Amino acid sequence: MHRVVIDGGTGGIGLATARALRARGVPLHLVGRDAGRLETAAAELGETGFPEGDVTDPGLCSRVAQEAGPRLGGLVYAIGTIQLAPAIRVNVVAPSLTRTPLAEAITRNQALASGIAAMHALQRLGEPEDGAALAAFLVSAEASYVTGQGIGVDGGCSSLRAKG
Ligand SMILES: NC(=O)c1ccc[n+]([C@@H]2O[C@H](COP(=O)([O-])OP(=O)(O)OC[C@H]3O[C@@H](n4cnc5c(N)ncnc54)[C@H](OP(=O)(O)O)[C@@H]3O)[C@@H](O)[C@H]2O)c1
Repeated sequence: MHRVVIDGGTGGIGLATARALRARGVPLHLVGRDAGRLETAAAELGETGFPEGDVTDPGLCSRVAQEAGPRLGGLVYAIGTIQLAPAIRVNVVAPSLTRTPLAEAITRNQALASGIAAMHALQRLGEPEDGAALAAFLVSAEASYVTGQGIGVDGGCSSLRAKG
C-alpha cells in the first residue's frame, strides 16, 4: 500500500486524518516541527518515527520524498496546480471552525462557541474527525476520479442559512 505524507500531521485535523488512514492500514509519514509531538504520534500510529520538518524549508519536499520512500502515494495539505494531472490529484478540504489547538482560543469560550455553532445549519462546531474522514477518502483509490475540487466540511455554513 502507498505511503501518505501529512504536513501538520501532529495537529488537530492532521492527527485525526492520520488515525483515519491508519485504521485503513495506510502507511504514514507525518511532518511537523516539534520532535516530541512527532515521537508521540509515531508511537501511537505504530510507525518507526518521523524527523522534524518545516514546510517553509524549500528543501523539505525532496527530503520528505526520500524519507517516505519509493511507495509515496499521497499528500495531505498539499499545494499544487492542475498541471500536475494526471499523475497527481489535488483537492482541498475546507473546514469551518474546528475544535483543534489552533482554534482553542475561540472554542474554549463557551458562549462564543455556542454562538458560532448556531450560525451553522448543522448547529455544531467541527471536530477534527470530520475533516479527517474526507481527507482519508480523497487520498484513497476510491477517489481516483476526483481532482481539482474544494469541498467544504463546514456544517453547511458556506451554502445554507441556519434556522432561526
Ligand atoms: N481548526 C479550524 O477551525 C480550522 C478552520 C479552517 C481551516 N483550518 C486549517 O486546517 C489546517 C490544520 O489546522 P488545525 O486546526 O489542525 O491546526 P493545529 O491543531 O494547530 O495543527 C497544525 C499542525 O501544523 C504543524 N505546523 C505548523 N506550522 C508548521 C510548519 N511551518 N512546518 C511544519 N509543520 C507545521 C503543527 O506542528 P508543529 O507546530 O509541531 O510544527 C501541527 O502539526 C490549517 O491549515 C488551518 O489553517 C483550520
